[in-house]
Amino acid sequence: MAAMQEELGALLAVMPDERRVRVAGRDFWVGHLQGQSVVAVLSRIGKVAAATTAAVLLERFGVRAIVFTGVAGGLAPGVRVGDVVVASRLLQHDLDASPIFPRYEVPLTGHARFATDTAISDSLAAVAEGLLRDPVALLGQQVVDDFGLHAPRLHRGLVVSGDRFIARAADSEALRHDLPDALACEMEGAAVAQVCHDFRVPFAAVRTISDRADDQAHTDFLRFVSAVASRYSLALMEGWLAG
Ligand code: ADE
Repeated sequence: MAAMQEELGALLAVMPDERRVRVAGRDFWVGHLQGQSVVAVLSRIGKVAAATTAAVLLERFGVRAIVFTGVAGGLAPGVRVGDVVVASRLLQHDLDASPIFPRYEVPLTGHARFATDTAISDSLAAVAEGLLRDPVALLGQQVVDDFGLHAPRLHRGLVVSGDRFIARAADSEALRHDLPDALACEMEGAAVAQVCHDFRVPFAAVRTISDRADDQAHTDFLRFVSAVASRYSLALMEGWLAG
């Protein structure tokens, strides 16, 4: 699953025998990749859109696991454009039912942070490490130079999700203050993690950093998603499925 066409287009283009099934206004691409049965789908942006899509994947298509791929804004100091983050846990940074429940906790679950599947996350991290060793092979010299992707790194840890595109340095500073261990922010992952938790289905998320969630975030994001994002997603998903 990815949110936007720009994040998954390259993958959809190489599914050899895909059959499109339309449910709830979304196209679910049922087919194979690297010899494995997959359903690829664009959730659209935001937590509710992602949760709806996850529920359809689980109920209608009976998928055995969900992996979210796409881009995120870097929050922690060393998380730079072109780095890859594999989530170990996800939290909704805009969820606050306090004082009835602790801030961030999803009411009646007892959880604020939802853990990802360790085996899938380990595989994604191994694939990402291999790709990041040679970004020129993945993206070409021109893209590496244009985006300054010279020594991209892999990070593993907390990813936070909310229904806000973080595009002001003051907002990312506030997130860093409230959630000092957050590596990156996006708008879907923690919602899908919650749905997968309810269904007891493994979930993993891998995000490439498109911007620093600061005052330049919107221009950096748009440049990155159009030129780079779906190449990372394709290579990560193919590598994982082939492994
Ligand atoms: N996805 C990519 N960049 C983001 C940002 N700055 N805020 C929220 N989601 C994002």
